[in-house]
Amino acid sequence: MNGYVNIERGTGKMARFKVPGEWGALKEDVPLTKEQVEEKATNLLAQMSLEEKIKQMSGDTPFVRGLIQLLVAYNIRSLPAGENVRLSIPAIRFSDGPRGVVMNHSTCFPVTMARGASWDRALEESVGDAIGVEARSQGANFFGGVCINVLRHPAWGRAQETYGEDPYHLGEMGAALVRGVQRHVMACVKHFAANSIENTRYRVDVRISERTLREVYLSHFKRCVDEGVASVMSAYNKVNGHYCGHNRHLLRDILKKEWGFEGFVISDFVFGIRNGKAANAGLDIEMPLTIHFGKKLMKLVRRGTVPEDVIDDAVLRILKQKIRFAQIGEPGRYGLQAVVSSEHKALAREAAQKSIVLLKNDCVADTTKRILPIDVAHLNRIAIIGKLATKPNTGDKGSSMVRPPYVITPLEGIRAAVSRDCEVMYSDGRVINKAVDIARKADISVIIVGYTHRDEGEYMFTKGGDRDVLTLKPHDETLILQTVIANPNTAVVLMGGSAIITESWREKVPAILMAWYAGMEGGNALADILFGKVNPCAKLPCVFPKSEDQLPFFDKRARSIEYGYFHGYRLMDKQGQTPAFPFGFGISYTTYAYDNLQLDQNEINLDGTLRVSVDITNTGNIAGEEIAQLYVGYDGSRVERPFKELKGFSKVYLTPGETKRVRFALAARQLAYYDELHSNWIVEPTEYTVYVGSSSRTQDLLRAEFRIHS
Ligand code: BGC
Repeated sequence: MNGYVNIERGTGKMARFKVPGEWGALKEDVPLTKEQVEEKATNLLAQMSLEEKIKQMSGDTPFVRGLIQLLVAYNIRSLPAGENVRLSIPAIRFSDGPRGVVMNHSTCFPVTMARGASWDRALEESVGDAIGVEARSQGANFFGGVCINVLRHPAWGRAQETYGEDPYHLGEMGAALVRGVQRHVMACVKHFAANSIENTRYRVDVRISERTLREVYLSHFKRCVDEGVASVMSAYNKVNGHYCGHNRHLLRDILKKEWGFEGFVISDFVFGIRNGKAANAGLDIEMPLTIHFGKKLMKLVRRGTVPEDVIDDAVLRILKQKIRFAQIGEPGRYGLQAVVSSEHKALAREAAQKSIVLLKNDCVADTTKRILPIDVAHLNRIAIIGKLATKPNTGDKGSSMVRPPYVITPLEGIRAAVSRDCEVMYSDGRVINKAVDIARKADISVIIVGYTHRDEGEYMFTKGGDRDVLTLKPHDETLILQTVIANPNTAVVLMGGSAIITESWREKVPAILMAWYAGMEGGNALADILFGKVNPCAKLPCVFPKSEDQLPFFDKRARSIEYGYFHGYRLMDKQGQTPAFPFGFGISYTTYAYDNLQLDQNEINLDGTLRVSVDITNTGNIAGEEIAQLYVGYDGSRVERPFKELKGFSKVYLTPGETKRVRFALAARQLAYYDELHSNWIVEPTEYTVYVGSSSRTQDLLRAEFRIHS
C-alpha cells in the first residue's frame, strides 16, 4: 500500500498522491479482546513523554501548509493527526463525507437527506461499507461524515448532510452508516450538538431546556454511541452559553460519563475550540491543525490548568481506538480498483432510485391513466425543461463535496432510457416561451427545477449558507405554471436538500417528484423512476410545509436562539396544521393496504417489550417496497408530549396481490421522557396508543391502545 500512485478516473486529469501505510505495529496477528486492546494502549501510554502524548491530540500538518490545503484542495488526501514514529503509532487519517469519500475521485452517493428518504437501514449500511472501502483504499482510516443533526428548520443550509427531522429515524440511519463504515475504518458522528443554523455557526448560542436537549437533539447520538462509533465531532455553536468544543456538560458529563462513550472527541475544524482548556471539557483532538493544543496545551499542563490525568484519559481513548481499528478490515478488498468500482456505481444508482420521492401522480386528463410512469414504448416526443437538467448537481461544494469522475445529469439519463425513435427536446427554461413551445409539441414534459450549492450549503461567504426563501425562484414557478397550461401532461422534478414550498403551483401540476441531490448516478435513477423501470418507494424524512408559518422560528443571523421542544411533524400535530406533504409520505406506482393491527399484549411492565404486527397487502399491479411506520401517542401522560412520535419503521417487498405480516418490537423504555427535576428518564405507567401505517398522516394510520404498568 505504500508509494506514489497515479489515478485517472474519466476526468482526464491525473491525480498524484501518496497512499500512506496502514496500521503497522498496531496490527496483531490474532484478533485482540477488549481487555487486550486496553492493555496494549495502557502499555503504549506508559512509554510516552508528555510531549508525545500531547502530539497525539492535534493535527500533524504544518500550519501554513495545512491552511493552504484546506482552502485550495480540501481533503484531496487524508488529513493526519497524531503520528508517533518512535513508537510506530500511525496518525488518524481523516476523510470527510457524507455523500461519499471527499478524497480524490470517489463514488458520489445521493446526499444524506436523500438516503434518509430511503428509510432503508440495510442499504445505508451498504453505502457505509462502500465508503469505508474507498476511504481505506485511498489511505484514510477515519471517516468524518456521519452527520446526524436534527433538521429543525428546512432553511438550514446543510440540511442535505443529515437524514431528516426525526431523532429515532436519524439514530437508526446514522447507526446503519456507522456499522457499514466501521467494517473498514473509524467513523465519526457530528456535529455534537444542536447544530442547525449555518450562517452564524461559529457563534450562535442555542438556548435549550435539558429535556429538549436530551429527547430531541441528543438521543440519536446516543444511538450511534451504542452502535460503537469510534469518534464524535463537537459542533461550532454554543449550547446554553458554552461552545460545544468547551462544553463539559455535553462532552464529559453526558457523552463520556453518562453514556459510557469509549471513543474520542475531535473538534470541528479550525474554529472548533478557542483555547487549550477545551481538553478539560473533554475535547481529545484538535483538528486538523495544531493551534490551541501542542505547545500551548503543554504550558497549560505545566501550569496545572489542565491536569495530566486529562491528557492521559484523552490519549488512552485515542490509542484504544487506533488499536481496535488496526485489527479490523477485509484486506483483500482494498486497492484503487475498489474506488468507483462497478459495484459502487450500481449502489449509487440503487441508493438514488430508492431516495426519489413520488409526491403526486394524478391522472392524465379525462382518463384513468396516471401521468407516471411514462410508457417508453408509446413515447414519441418528450420535452425536458430547466437548466438543472444538464447540470451535474450533486449538492454542496463545502467540506462535503465529493469529486466523482462523472455525473449523469437528468437529460443524459433520460436520453439513454428512451427509444431511438423518441425525440427528446430540451430547453433550459431561461426563455419561458421557448420552453412552452417544446412542451406544447411533446407527449409529456418534465420540468427539472430547484436549488444548487449557490442557494444552500456550507456557508462560504459568497455562496451557500442558510436559505432565504423556501419556495422555488419566481422564474421557475412561472415556468411551471406556463408549461402546464401548454401541456397538462407535465411532471415537475424538484432538486434540493430539504423541504420546498410548492403552494403557488402544486395544485396545478399533476405529477411531482422530489429528487434531492441524487449523486453521480442520479440522472439514470431519475429515468428509471420516470419510465417505470423502478417503482418509487421513498418517503419524506421531513415535513414539506404549506408556508413558513407552519415552522418554528428561524433566523440565519441569530446570535442567540431558543430551540423549543416541537418542530416538524410534532409541531404540525400540536398546532393542528396540515402540511403540503407530511413526514413519512411518498406514493408509488402500486397501492398498499394495511389491516389487522395486533398487539401481543394489552399491558406490559416498565421493562417489557410490546410486539406489534400488521398485514400489508400490495393491492396494485406491480411489485414494490413499502415503508411501514410505527408511531406512539402518549394519551395518559402527565407531562406535555408530542401527539405521536416515530418509534419504528420497516421496509417490505411485496409482489402484486401479496400480503405479508410486518412485525415491530417496542420496548417500554423507548417511551421514556426526561425528567429535569430528578435528572432522570421516566417511563410512565399509563395508557398509550400505537399507530401503524404508511405515513404520519392520521388517515394513513391504524391504531390500537395498550398500557404500561409499574
Ligand atoms: C464542517 C465539518 C467538516 C469540517 C472539515 C467544518 O467546517 O462543519 O462538517 O467535517 O469542516 O472540513
